[in-house]
Amino acid sequence: MAACPAATTARVGAAHGGGLWRRSGRSPSLLPRPARGTSTTARASELQQAPAPAPAPAAAVPTHKVTVHDRERGVVHQFVVPQDQYILHTAEAQDITLPFACRHGCCTSCAVRIKSGQIRQPEALGISADLREQGYALLCVGYPSSDLEVETQDEDEVYWLQFGRYFARGPVDRDDYALELAMGDE
Ligand code: FES
Repeated sequence: MAACPAATTARVGAAHGGGLWRRSGRSPSLLPRPARGTSTTARASELQQAPAPAPAPAAAVPTHKVTVHDRERGVVHQFVVPQDQYILHTAEAQDITLPFACRHGCCTSCAVRIKSGQIRQPEALGISADLREQGYALLCVGYPSSDLEVETQDEDEVYWLQFGRYFARGPVDRDDYALELAMGDE
């Protein structure tokens, strides 16, 4: 008859003097005995009282003062933004309303022109490298790299700067069916 694996383990443990693998109460003599006057419960509570290691101090993230001139509303906002946070999100968290639409760097609703300072914006797909070099930036995916002063832009103006050259290639094909529908409404 084949030996039970548990029994085999118990025998191996006993052979090495350890006896730590006792199962189902078959070999009570294999467990190490606590020293007299102590108990496993007492030792557990001692462990719980051991002081926890102090957490590593978090590295302080630099913050920057951001000034936004909202030209459409005629107001100026000033707020502080950590260097690793989006400017638009941080403004919203402080109940400051700024223009936006997609919030993913794909449209130009949150576009600003930088008056001073620097913005890091690796996810700004909505504006070309040319426009970035001209000082345009998107607040929804922009991080401040320094104190910053920006002014909001006319969305259509930035959109035209970004895509106007494609529209200027020639006349757009006329959609006769759409034109008929439009005429029928009149
Ligand atoms: S909200 Fe669309 S690009 Fe920022």
